[in-house]
Amino acid sequence: MKQQEYKGKAITVLYDARRCIHAKECVHGAPEVFNPAAKPWVGPDNAEPKAIAAVIKRCPTGALHYQAADSSLAERADPSNTLTIASRGPLYLRGSFVVVTEDEKELLSDTRAALCRCGASKNKPFCDNSHFAVAFADPGTAAPGVDARKEMATSGKLRVVRTANGPLHLQGQLTIRNATDQVIFEGTETWLCRCGASGSKPFCDGSHQRIGFQPE
Ligand code: SF4
Ligand code: FES
Repeated sequence: MKQQEYKGKAITVLYDARRCIHAKECVHGAPEVFNPAAKPWVGPDNAEPKAIAAVIKRCPTGALHYQAADSSLAERADPSNTLTIASRGPLYLRGSFVVVTEDEKELLSDTRAALCRCGASKNKPFCDNSHFAVAFADPGTAAPGVDARKEMATSGKLRVVRTANGPLHLQGQLTIRNATDQVIFEGTETWLCRCGASGSKPFCDGSHQRIGFQPE
């Protein structure tokens, strides 16, 4: 599905419905702008561009973006890359990152995304809310690992490699927080489960081979 554009006088709101899973930040943050009962559901002239931009930057999936006439409002990526595990839900990534296939095909370059970790999304590697349909039960409370700390990279975009029939291979500066906001990983390289079967979530433990995970 193509990204939709809602043009206003001073800000254009961009919306990718396939990546929208989370009925909170926009509708609650600026109900005069984001109203699912209205047609169109986005009214980009119904609030100050600065206020709209602030709400859009809170959209955790990257379904919402914007282009503002005032360049000082342009979105800046978070200075560090953080991945937060949602209880019974996806991995929320924020920062500066690119998602690629093993053969270097770029799937996304963005500042925010929700990544599937239950194995059931029909829009892999992104979340489409299928974790509800499959009753994904992981609470996301993994404890900090003894060997989690590795040498930190200084800068650069995080690379998220969607390995074929296997985990997400993350390369670059990354902090992982569990669902209770504890830091469980700080480092520059890790492999995260996206099949839903790992016994050491969020990390891959090779279970994708045991279950014959073949999404691609
Ligand atoms: S904040 Fe983003 S993910 Fe949540 S409902 Fe709005 S557009 Fe969808
Ligand atoms: S991707 Fe789930 S265990 Fe490897």
